[in-house]
Amino acid sequence: MSTQSYEDARDKVQQFTGASLDNYVVFTKNTTEAINHAAQLWSKIPGKVLVSDIEHSSNLLPWLAGNDVIQYRTNSDGTLNIEDVEEMFKTHGDIKLLAITGSSNVTGYKTPIHDLAELAHRYGAMILVDACQLIQHQKVDVLPQDTPRHLDFVAFSGHKMYAPFGGGVLIGPKDFFDQATPYQIGGGNLTYISRDLQLKRFPTVQAHDPGTPNAVGAISIAKAAEVLESIGYDRIHEYESDLVRTAYRGLKDTDGVEVYVSESELGSVIPFDIAGMDSRLTAEILRDDYGIGVRAGSFCTYELMRKLKNISDEQDLNISEEIDRGITRNIPGVVRASFGLVNNREDVTRLISAVNEISQNGIEHYSQMYKQNDTTGTWTKR
Ligand SMILES: Cc1ncc(COP(=O)(O)O)c(C=O)c1O
Repeated sequence: MSTQSYEDARDKVQQFTGASLDNYVVFTKNTTEAINHAAQLWSKIPGKVLVSDIEHSSNLLPWLAGNDVIQYRTNSDGTLNIEDVEEMFKTHGDIKLLAITGSSNVTGYKTPIHDLAELAHRYGAMILVDACQLIQHQKVDVLPQDTPRHLDFVAFSGHKMYAPFGGGVLIGPKDFFDQATPYQIGGGNLTYISRDLQLKRFPTVQAHDPGTPNAVGAISIAKAAEVLESIGYDRIHEYESDLVRTAYRGLKDTDGVEVYVSESELGSVIPFDIAGMDSRLTAEILRDDYGIGVRAGSFCTYELMRKLKNISDEQDLNISEEIDRGITRNIPGVVRASFGLVNNREDVTRLISAVNEISQNGIEHYSQMYKQNDTTGTWTKR
């Protein structure tokens, strides 16, 4: 019964993402594990992996461990030009894979994944899309494998699409997986081991799914997919973009607020800062005084943060040296407000008025109430 539900969950994810039957849907713990899985398989194949410099560490570090990685430098606002990406393919003749986020977790900027897929295919490479920040807002359409704009690999996490923590997905071509040595092996990987230790591997997705599966994670992802479908991505887009646009305009109009994304590139998150205020303090005050949850920090995207905060090479060096001495206070960061189906107009109004009030009060006011730890940079009430 639970095996059937688990396999049904695989089918549901396949249909939800438009992945044709020549793809496998592999359940993982999260996006990080999905990309580590893919990176391990790709490490056996010659050639380079092209990543952008706006990637979350989960779509960078797994590639650095075992693959030859080159980095594409985005524009100063973290957007990309497809012609510049093409230059990378021309300059490096041996790119095997383009690993790219579908939407930046800091600016919300959505990369043109299908155009990039078409480009990668033209140069004999494949594409992997980190859809962790996309799947909850927009249909991620894998498209049939025999079409030039199809996505070869897609990774995402259940918890970002309103399923519980603990489940994730890696989708990839069946042929690729069938030829690869599985990332992990153990019980459930194969049909038989002979006395002389000959392995008879499953010619199916099961070869890549050893051990007792995270059936709850998989089934809840399938359920979340059903719910997103029943609401409809068009309605989700309409609802969320109204919230984000209103918040964006409100923040832009607030004195002393700097917003690090342009309106034309708006996704579902808004990175911002209040002049003179450390991002961690702003987040602390929004939580303590207004009951508003935002996040502050570098969001595992250090190069993008250096771009947004104009961090020079010298500052970068100083920050690194400080970290060696145990000081993490000056790692650059911003405040990020995220919007999704769980938010409403009232949340937006409250955020704007709170940010306005904090900006008017200013750092002088708050430094009487909060003190900053010299080493870690965190703020606590005096
Ligand atoms: C763009 C992006 N990729 C990857 C990840 C890693 O996701 P997880 O922690 O679920 O593995 C995140 C997490 O927030 C993310 O925003």
